[in-house]
This record gives sequence, structure tokens and C-alpha cells, in this order.
Amino acid sequence: MMSGYYLLDDAKRFLHATLSNQIARVSPTLYARLTKQTGRGFAPESVEQAADYFQTCFKDYFETLGVPEHEIKRYLNGKQLLEYGPGDVPGVALLMIAHGAERVTCVDRFALVSMTQKNADILLDLLWHLDNSARARAAECFRQPGNPFSGFNPERIRYLIQPDGLSELEGEVDIVLSRAVLEHVNDLDATFDDMARALKTDGILLHQVDLKSHGLHRRNPLDFLTWPPALWSWMHSHKGVPNRWRVDRYRDAMQRNGFEALLLKPTDVVDASVVSEVRPHLAGPFKSLSDADLSWLGFWLVGRKTDSGGHGT
Ligand SMILES: C[S@@+](CC[C@H](N)C(=O)[O-])C[C@H]1O[C@@H](n2cnc3c(N)ncnc32)[C@H](O)[C@@H]1O
Repeated sequence: MMSGYYLLDDAKRFLHATLSNQIARVSPTLYARLTKQTGRGFAPESVEQAADYFQTCFKDYFETLGVPEHEIKRYLNGKQLLEYGPGDVPGVALLMIAHGAERVTCVDRFALVSMTQKNADILLDLLWHLDNSARARAAECFRQPGNPFSGFNPERIRYLIQPDGLSELEGEVDIVLSRAVLEHVNDLDATFDDMARALKTDGILLHQVDLKSHGLHRRNPLDFLTWPPALWSWMHSHKGVPNRWRVDRYRDAMQRNGFEALLLKPTDVVDASVVSEVRPHLAGPFKSLSDADLSWLGFWLVGRKTDSGGHGT
């Protein structure tokens, strides 16, 4: 680990990562394009697989909220949504509109969305699998109904790129959601503050967070937590790789920003032996974590904005 036996390997990783971090600093979007980021990993993926992925995400959100399928339209009717980090295709946003949401604002730190033929085909595949009334609504997501190449209709899907990934909306949103995004944000507290400002009172947070290493561990799935924060920052600060915060930071950020947790449930945990092996080598910010918090490799979070939040309406 940092303290010894991966020394040569770590020195190589450090040099390589620090150089690529400079490319990402000068041009974040170029870096995202060079590394062919879609937001859904690097494995080859067909149009149908990508469309399936978005349908699964959509289904998971409502299962997690406890909203049965036949209630989804009623639940979404007229709602304003905010999605952080949609990746390169706003497939979830399109499905939310199809099922009754009024408008989805998508905000990202990197300009990943691009209307390639493949991405247009993914959106058309999603449209194709909807019933007639949902398809007619989904078609309104585009300036020319049903034509992804005409651009997004901002009354339905608004796509914002902000250097820090914050929406800067004020009291206009009913649900904020994301999947595999919060672990990438550069300033977690600022992102929770942005959510609190964007949401109406009683608005809902709905996030799936992936706490895994994203390929940046060496032998133990948690050993990426052994890099001291300053080295991690030199290596990765401009790339959107995991910020490494564990579930304790999310609990604190929710509390500070006036959110009540309705659900905080792990999606995956490591064995106690993995935790005990890595514990002596952990970097400063992770040393005081409980074994239980350290063992979480991902979680679902549902929260409600209370009126003690001090932001928004
Ligand atoms: C792993 S991808 C997930 C994409 C999509 N949600 C999905 O499930 O396929 C992470 C996304 O978060 C975005 N992202 C990274 N940092 C961000 C930030 N600070 N604010 C908003 N989005 C960010 C990335 O550009 C990308 O779109």
C-alpha cells in the first residue's frame, strides 16, 4: 500500500495519473472524449443494451421510492426534476417525461451529451418501446417532435454544463436524482447545498451512489483509500474520478443541509477481512470510520427536504 510494498507500482501510477490530470485540467471535455466516456463504463455496448440500462434505471428509481408501476404516472404528473450527471444520453430524463414529468433539468460538469447516430438510436429505441401516449409525450423532448437530431426542447429537457456541476436553481424542483454521480462530484457539500436550494420544501432526493474504486484499487477493493488526499488530488482532481467520500460524509451533508433520510441502504458490502486488512494503511480522512461504514461499496439514498433547510421555498 502507500506505506511500502506497492512502492514501484505506486510511483508509476502516480506519474501517469498526474500527467493525465493536467490534460483534464486544461480541457475537461477533451479528456472525457479522449477517454471515450459515456458514463456507463468502457465495455462495448449495443443500442439495445444501453436502452435496457436506462429502462432498468427508471424502474429502480420507482422501486426504491416504493411507487408501484401503475402509480408512476400519477406520481410524476407535472413534476419538475433535476438530474445530476446524465452521462452521454439523457435516457432517464426522456423516460421521466414520457411518464408524466413536466420538465427534467440535467446538469453536468462535463459536456458528455452528443447526438451521434448511436445515441440518437438509443433514444429512438426507448421511444419505440413506449405505449402510444407515453411515446407522444417523449417525442416532445425534441425541438422537432420525435427527431433527436433537432436538439432538445428546453421546455422538456434542459441540459446545463457548469464548471462545478451545480444547477444553481432556486426552489423549483420536486425531485433531485442521480445514479453513479455523487461519488464523482468535486465538492460534495456544495452539491448538497445546491440540491437544498433547488428543491421545494418537502422535495425528494433520490440517489444511487457507487463507492467502489472505479478500477483505481490495486489488490484490496478498498486500498484506493490509502492514498493521502494531496496525492489523490494531484493525480485525479480534474478527471471526475471518485472523490472517495464514504457514507458518513453523506449523512453529515444531508443533516447540514436540512434533509431527513427516508432510506439509506447499502447495495453492496465487503467482508470484514477486507476492512481489517486495509485499516492499518488508511489515509487520514478514513482512519476514524467505523468498520460498518467502511464496508459499504454503494448505497441508495432517499431523503426529504424539511423546512429547517433554510434554502428555497
Ligand atoms: C459514471 S457517470 C454516470 C452517468 C449516468 N448517470 C449513468 O448512470 O449512466 C458519472 C456522470 O457524472 C458526471 N459528473 C462528474 N462530476 C460531476 C459534478 N461535479 N456534477 C455533476 N455531474 C458530474 C459525469 O460527467 C457523468 O455524466
